[in-house]
Amino acid sequence: MTELDLIIDLHRNSEKQGPGSESDTLKALGFLEFPANKELKIIDIGCGSGGQTITLAENLNGQITAVDLFPEFLTELNEKSQKLGLIKKIRTLEKSMDELPFRKGEFDLIWSEGAIYNIGFENGIKKWKDYLKEGGYLAVSEITWITSSRPKEIEEFWNEEYSEIDTAANKIKQLENNGYSLVGYFYLCQDSWIENYYKPMQVRFETFLHRNDYSELARKVISDNQFEIELYQKFKDYYSYGFYIARKNK
Ligand SMILES: C[S@@+](CC[C@H](N)C(=O)[O-])C[C@H]1O[C@@H](n2cnc3c(N)ncnc32)[C@H](O)[C@@H]1O
Repeated sequence: MTELDLIIDLHRNSEKQGPGSESDTLKALGFLEFPANKELKIIDIGCGSGGQTITLAENLNGQITAVDLFPEFLTELNEKSQKLGLIKKIRTLEKSMDELPFRKGEFDLIWSEGAIYNIGFENGIKKWKDYLKEGGYLAVSEITWITSSRPKEIEEFWNEEYSEIDTAANKIKQLENNGYSLVGYFYLCQDSWIENYYKPMQVRFETFLHRNDYSELARKVISDNQFEIELYQKFKDYYSYGFYIARKNK
């Protein structure tokens, strides 16, 4: 198994593959205004096993295309939507988020929780805007500094990991410079990281290691994640996922 296979394996059978919660998804949904009973066309990009896709399907009218690069997560999402009677509302699509097969102006809503960083925030918001109708909404969560300054240790770590990490003010400016108007912003609370993401992941550590024969690579995957958790515990007052809800300008 490669390291990537192991990372996918660690994240299987979990509600979320990143920080977030049902109440965060609902809070972001609260900023959208669509005409009542309108049949919406929606994409959820980097959906993972689809925790938030299910919430979208339960709370919106219309059809959702849930896209992810890895079929393992999409299989889980298909099983969940089958169980919940949502299979007709959610279509899964195995594709990379930078090579989407959609037409211009096809969608009312583009959703993406904790995934746009894979192609970079600015690149993503530019590319995906084409698929939105005029006045359509983009709702994305993205790692964000929540204070104007921070300790050097965490600043260096994140600049190395993802150099586009920035303050909300600068992310909002990027949205505005690229043809969107902000309709809402909030950042995820600490429970959305610890209770909803890190603690359930830590519970899976032992079975993951056992399943993978405690291989050196499997132990590395665990120690990398443990390091990330400790860093979050130490510096959680300085960063979070910002949730940006914006409208494509007419
Ligand atoms: C941090 S997880 C977030 C998953 C889910 N949205 C959530 O919040 O639980 C990032 C997701 O992006 C997917 N991903 C990574 N690179 C991708 C790409 N190039 N195209 C589509 N999905 C990708 C991963 O498989 C993973 O499911």
